[in-house]
Amino acid sequence: MVRPVRAEDRDWIRRFITERWSAEVVAVHGVIYRPHELPGFVAEQAGKPVGLLTYQLAGDACEIITLDSTRPGMGVGTALIEAVREAARAAGCRRLWLVTTNDNLEALRFYQKRGFVLAAVHRNAVAAARRLKPEISRTGAHGIPIRDEIELELLLD
Ligand SMILES: CC(C)(COP(=O)(O)OP(=O)(O)OC[C@H]1O[C@@H](n2cnc3c(N)ncnc32)[C@H](O)[C@@H]1OP(=O)(O)O)[C@@H](O)C(=O)NCCC(=O)NCCS
Repeated sequence: MVRPVRAEDRDWIRRFITERWSAEVVAVHGVIYRPHELPGFVAEQAGKPVGLLTYQLAGDACEIITLDSTRPGMGVGTALIEAVREAARAAGCRRLWLVTTNDNLEALRFYQKRGFVLAAVHRNAVAAARRLKPEISRTGAHGIPIRDEIELELLLD
């Protein structure tokens, strides 16, 4: 089951994001976001959260700020993407987009298989993000150095 984030979720979201992303904030394209203050969707199984997506609406675009699943391979991430896609469409957005990093091969596979296309590569952008958020590690998934921000987008009809 997927439902919108509620006010009472804010505390666990803060803890959950800290666990998954080393701090309660995330830094992308030169901006610091506080996921616990953003709108989002929670995926629940047996009444317990197993996934979280947070997003931000700006003009005719909806940016996915975080997406995390604690039950990989069971459809949680896909259900959360479907929920934000509907919310973005309902809000009149033309574009759903996000930024991930060059090491995150799982995310690149996941999003591309769900209709997202590569929109831009910002070389060495993670160095700037690291100045805002020093907790970002130098080495990421698969031992790949984390350097670049990769922008993916899905145009909505
Ligand atoms: C990316 C991420 C959110 C995907 O979440 P997920 O819950 O594993 O997503 P899904 O289960 O919907 O899909 C993952 C795979 O499982 C498969 N799957 C979906 N439902 C399934 C089911 N019922 N049984 C078995 N496999 C299933 C899907 O086919 C998919 O494989 P594919 O991408 O090759 O098509 C998750 O890997 C994650 O939390 N990553 C770390 C955080 C991160 O990097 N976030 C993205 C950057 S913003």
